[in-house]
Amino acid sequence: MKENRAQFATRLGVIATTVGSAVGLGNIWRFPYETGVHGGGAFLLIYVGFIFIIGVPVICAEFIMGRSTRSNIFGAFRALHGRPQWAWIGYMGILASILILSFYSVVAGWTVEYFVQSVTGTLASLDAGSRHEAFDMFCTGWKPVMWTLVFLAVNAVILLRGVKGGIERVSNVLMPVLFVILIIFCINSLLMPGASEGLAFLFRPDFSKVDSGVLLGALGQAFFSLSLGLGTMLTYASYFSDRTPLVKSAVVTSALDTCVAVLAGVIIFPAVFTFGAEPSAGPKLVFEILPDIFHRLPWGALWSSLFFFLLFLASLTSTISMSEIGIAFFCEQFGLTRKKATLLNCLIAMVLGTLCALSFGPLRDMTVFGLTVFDLFDYVSSNILLPLGGMMISIFVGWFVDRGILRTQLRGTGSIKEWILRVIVFCLRYVAPAGIALVSLSGLGVI
Ligand code: TRP
Repeated sequence: MKENRAQFATRLGVIATTVGSAVGLGNIWRFPYETGVHGGGAFLLIYVGFIFIIGVPVICAEFIMGRSTRSNIFGAFRALHGRPQWAWIGYMGILASILILSFYSVVAGWTVEYFVQSVTGTLASLDAGSRHEAFDMFCTGWKPVMWTLVFLAVNAVILLRGVKGGIERVSNVLMPVLFVILIIFCINSLLMPGASEGLAFLFRPDFSKVDSGVLLGALGQAFFSLSLGLGTMLTYASYFSDRTPLVKSAVVTSALDTCVAVLAGVIIFPAVFTFGAEPSAGPKLVFEILPDIFHRLPWGALWSSLFFFLLFLASLTSTISMSEIGIAFFCEQFGLTRKKATLLNCLIAMVLGTLCALSFGPLRDMTVFGLTVFDLFDYVSSNILLPLGGMMISIFVGWFVDRGILRTQLRGTGSIKEWILRVIVFCLRYVAPAGIALVSLSGLGVI
């Protein structure tokens, strides 16, 4: 164990940071759009089921690997098993983290544009029709490239300040503020004329809409939203103190993350039905609907500036966690300094992010399997790499890691009931791997 590795200072810091990683565009942008595309209520129900049956055990597995080895994903596999055949999962995690960072930064860049437009009053001055047109023009142009690069640069600057000074301080303060704002917006949406239709869409499951694509979408969203499957939670757990209770932290993180996603749904869908929009509009859905919501509010420009600023920060706490995987890897495996590792990670994401940013406009026709670069990166990482990584992590911890290590880690300095340990091991050995395999293979059309 490396004694001089950084550690999170407080209990609250641990929760705030893992929640800070989990809560981000995945909840507020991706969840409503995926729910819309996949038909509403049934998707939500399946998603929540996956979070608790598969997500929580897999977070525990990542926590165990991270804290017991105090290492990045790559070193963790080696320290616990020593055989080189697990190394590819580490490489896969690093690949996925960079793909996600690239397309995620594009959407984070959109929030920056909206923030600027809110502050300058441009957003408020347009009517709904011209606002949608303006957003389309923006997305298809070159400006998103600029914001993607700005966002990645800010991300790098915060990372260069290190774990305690940067990550922890930022998330401690801002996550609770975001939560309060979301609740206020929820109340506003519940007062809209389309509220009952929106809530019915979100909460009334219609199982006739469920097919293997819906299942895979829900699984991918669960992994994406919990920052799971590529070693983010593993890397963060390597900074936990020995006193942090792992199971409790996993449950609290998942519950809060799910709450934020549901709140985002309650904000968006009543508005979708009030304004006569299409719930299945895809990645642009939330960005077209939100300004319409703010427009109806008194002091709309103020609300929208505040909201987009917080969304920008929530995205930052998520991208910081994603980048941390690659950085810890470059540092500890190649012996690069933290500064060089950060810059390298950021540069790769800048190149790939530029391609993603342009894939709504100039590079629209550059497609693989009919998907643009942006959609391809999203699909491959969320629906393939994350579930596969999660499956391997759960198999590894369930079958190959010594039960004594599991018990010590899960118990921490407190105690753990034997049945909880058994349930977690059972999920890791059988439920999670089988569930992920079935959903993925059928979703990808293999079975
Ligand atoms: N969970 C974050 C969100 O919902 C995104 C994220 C951060 C992530 N780190 C990750 C997704 C690692 C997958 C893997 O916005």
